[in-house]
Amino acid sequence: MDTTIQKLHAREILDSRGNPTVEVECTLACGTFARAGVPSGASTGIHEAVELRDGDKKRFGGKGVLNAVANVNDKIADKVIGMDARNQVLIDEAMIALDGTPNKGNLGANAILGVSLAVSRAMATATGIPLYRYLGGPTVHRLPVPMMNIMNGGVHAHWQGADFQEYMIAPYGASTFRQALEWGAEVYHALQSVINKKGMSVGVGDEGGFAPHVSSNHEPLELIVEGINAAGLTPGKDVGVAMDPASSGFFEDGKYLLRTENRKLSSAEMVDYYEKLVKDFPVVLLEDGMAEDDWDGWKLLNQRLGGIIELVGDDLFVTNVERIERGIRENAANATLIKLNQIGTLTETVAATRLAQFHGWGAFVSHRSGETVDSFIADFTVGLDTGHLKTGAPARGERVAKYNQLMRIEEELGSAATYAGKDAFIRPVRF
Ligand code: PGA
Ligand code: ZN
Repeated sequence: MDTTIQKLHAREILDSRGNPTVEVECTLACGTFARAGVPSGASTGIHEAVELRDGDKKRFGGKGVLNAVANVNDKIADKVIGMDARNQVLIDEAMIALDGTPNKGNLGANAILGVSLAVSRAMATATGIPLYRYLGGPTVHRLPVPMMNIMNGGVHAHWQGADFQEYMIAPYGASTFRQALEWGAEVYHALQSVINKKGMSVGVGDEGGFAPHVSSNHEPLELIVEGINAAGLTPGKDVGVAMDPASSGFFEDGKYLLRTENRKLSSAEMVDYYEKLVKDFPVVLLEDGMAEDDWDGWKLLNQRLGGIIELVGDDLFVTNVERIERGIRENAANATLIKLNQIGTLTETVAATRLAQFHGWGAFVSHRSGETVDSFIADFTVGLDTGHLKTGAPARGERVAKYNQLMRIEEELGSAATYAGKDAFIRPVRF
């Protein structure tokens, strides 16, 4: 079987917010064809790899990606065509070298990632091995806890809802992935009724979660607990909750600005605030509780809550091994978020995931708020055995595409499949 890369073709497509993004197709000499779509964030960390946008205000308000597309079709194709798709690491390294910058600012992480993912999917297809198994080997069999984001706030709700960006449910008490998803969808619908009955809006944010006006950042947690009960499940025992405040988005002049509550908190006060939420609600995971460069705030948060719950760095670590290494050295968290497009190649994303896992840290795989129907992260999560992922509400096609792929994987694994449940978390679930 000749797995030489014969053709690469990129085009501009739309993401789930109607903004342009990159799609790449890869054809191998044996005739195998594969396609990959690149996601795009809105609460993007300042340390992320560069998402190359055209800046031409006449098209999509400057958000076009025709330059990134051209970089794939010309410069990257020149380099990568003729290479063997078996050599993922060499291909990723060749693109990194061709770019020549530390943050992929030349070719664009969106261009590079599209190629990296399309090549790996083509290789998996050529071998006839499912992608999750191609990535993870013969023994992978564990399905993740689907951390469903059912209430949206922050920039994902245009600052019309809570300050906190994401409120997730963690159906860790289920016995299979399929049952977890069923519970999640039932809680989502029960929550819709709860919100509707209170006369609040059931409009949704970018990731499919409800985004009503609220008067505090704990109100969504109260609504969700009501929803879990209304679905006939027990908060804490069957279903826990998690949050991604995405606090870099409301960190101004060294303070955390909670607009809905009309309060400005210091880092220490913010830690107190979280401690109370963890006491009052069945919280198992908190992502980006502190801002991307508030290392002292992170260390304090980890001292106070790191022994009880999973503390995930997203904007803090940006899937970057150097930043994760610093986090491990300085004891700043106990888990990292994993987003392929924050770093820009499959090879580097696997390195970040393994680094976390080797140090006993959690690795929490994530979609972006701007998505395509590409379900690569579903296979990645099973392949790298990360135990949990977040990919939005159990609603909206680009979100459920990932959850549905995980159901296919579970079915294919048959009786070998296990469900991570409470073991997904780096700290024992308290309930
Ligand atoms: P983003 O948000 O995709 O808009 O960056 C996701 C997150 O903060 O986890
Ligand atoms: Zn985040």
